[in-house]
Amino acid sequence: MQSQLNAAPTDLTGKVCLVTGAAGGIGHSAVSHFAALGATVYATDIADAFDGPANYRSFNLLDEAGISACTDWIAEIKPDVLFNNAAIFDMGSVLEADLAQFDRLFGLNVRAFYAVLQASAKSMVANGQAGSIINLASQAGHRGEALVAHYCATKAAVISYTQSAALALAPHKVRVNAISPGVIDTPMWKDVDALFAKFEGKEIGQKKREVGEAVPLGHMGDPSDVARAAVFLASDQSSYMTAQTIGIDGGNVLR
Ligand SMILES: NC(=O)c1ccc[n+]([C@@H]2O[C@H](COP(=O)([O-])OP(=O)(O)OC[C@H]3O[C@@H](n4cnc5c(N)ncnc54)[C@H](O)[C@@H]3O)[C@@H](O)[C@H]2O)c1
Repeated sequence: MQSQLNAAPTDLTGKVCLVTGAAGGIGHSAVSHFAALGATVYATDIADAFDGPANYRSFNLLDEAGISACTDWIAEIKPDVLFNNAAIFDMGSVLEADLAQFDRLFGLNVRAFYAVLQASAKSMVANGQAGSIINLASQAGHRGEALVAHYCATKAAVISYTQSAALALAPHKVRVNAISPGVIDTPMWKDVDALFAKFEGKEIGQKKREVGEAVPLGHMGDPSDVARAAVFLASDQSSYMTAQTIGIDGGNVLR
């Protein structure tokens, strides 16, 4: 059989994309990339204001009323693409990481993540839309770390929900994939670096420099490195791909 050439340029015209955590490094880059390729973009974050090419609403996804308002909004906007990205980081070993930290990290990274995923999936199925859901996992979801117990567990949960959702939604032509970034230079790293300084007695800036140098490709990633993978997953270029987790990590994790 002769293979068919199917290599149209990537175009998101006509797609409605929703981005959570949109005011952060990776989320903002995803908004810009989706909009530049013709999508109508809706964006949300806890931040009061947002500067970017999107219709913006502020929701605190750690708050029950915020989740409820956000899921109502999802039913209104009917996204074809969800970039499920809002998350927080914190540190502590199993001897130090308490249940308050568990509640915050699981509250946003898993509970709110799941609520947004479920509302988007329900909307896509109810409206007969062939959608794409893109979940933000992490290299931290592929292995535990002594000082990062809860965050690693939340990101392992993201990978698991990606697989379960992909299998449940495949009959509805809704694809679900995850991206596992490695170390990406975003505002989150200010906190991560300060926490490692506290927990490992390092100078401010030292951990960030060290993790960049340790990447096989030799440097931290840029948010646009993740956004370009998101564009691929959002577009019809990835139409035969579901239930996968893509590493955008410069070679940090070998699968
Ligand atoms: N930067 C990295 O090195 C890295 C590595 C692996 C995975 N990730 C993942 O990528 C995603 C984006 O990370 P980033 O580096 O852009 O982080 P970031 O801190 O720059 O952005 C996260 C955004 O989430 C928002 N947010 C925080 N609490 C919220 C709440 N209660 N309700 C609603 N929004 C809230 C923040 O305001 C922020 O804009 C996250 O899921 C993160 O876990 C990042």
